[in-house]
Amino acid sequence: MTKFLIIANWKLNGNYKFINKNINLIKKKIYKSLYFCNLSIAPPYIYLGYINNLLKNTSISLTAQNVDIHTKGSFTGEISIKMLKDVGVKYVIIGHSERRFFHNENNDIISKKFILIKNNGLIPILCLGETEKQKKRNETEKICIQQINSILENSNINILNKTIIAYEPIWAIGSGKNANINEIQKTILFIKKYISSLNSEIVKNIYFLYGGSVNVSNLDIFLQEKTINGLLIGKASLTIENFISLVKKAEKTINSFNSS
Ligand code: 13P
Repeated sequence: MTKFLIIANWKLNGNYKFINKNINLIKKKIYKSLYFCNLSIAPPYIYLGYINNLLKNTSISLTAQNVDIHTKGSFTGEISIKMLKDVGVKYVIIGHSERRFFHNENNDIISKKFILIKNNGLIPILCLGETEKQKKRNETEKICIQQINSILENSNINILNKTIIAYEPIWAIGSGKNANINEIQKTILFIKKYISSLNSEIVKNIYFLYGGSVNVSNLDIFLQEKTINGLLIGKASLTIENFISLVKKAEKTINSFNSS
């Protein structure tokens, strides 16, 4: 895991017209010139299989926005980890604040999902972060560690090996207020240090992403930080021209760092 990972989280947006236009343009304009970045698309569930076909023979991967804790049976409306595997998914986002808030998902459910994804050979992307109130009360680090500990309570440290942790301060999501880069770095370093205190090898195999109001104008600040291995992009991934500019800029900037 060395390339910078950019994930377009489309959330509850898109239709066939949007997908055809977006994927065609990504294939035409960027995928052949991806040297420093890996790209992944996280569409609504219903389009995963369709997009998987469109992405055949490209290096662009598929991310699911959720998974159920059950693997089969009478769970109307749910999607299982085996179904996600079947349609070619590589990464699964869990613990996103929108699922915690709108669907009452708590740390216990999220930790079960994390373990299920990992044990089935896909890569969990654990989103964690604090609310504005928690930030004001200086609880950011405590909240992040609680979220990690709830996974460790149900498994052991090996479960974190080759997984992804995405720091997404809740107040920065969709708000246009991205977090201060020093604060992001401090939080990620704190999480790394905590995991390192439990196992100094496993922490090296975890990718750390940032998400929250990233766009083409503020992108550079996130690329400069070696602690950030990738980005989860919401709103700025929905306008394809902007998203293509963002990915091209990331490629160019990382290239210039590498050659300087
Ligand atoms: P925005 O980029 O719209 O703030 O969303 C971030 C996010 O939630 C990615 O998962």
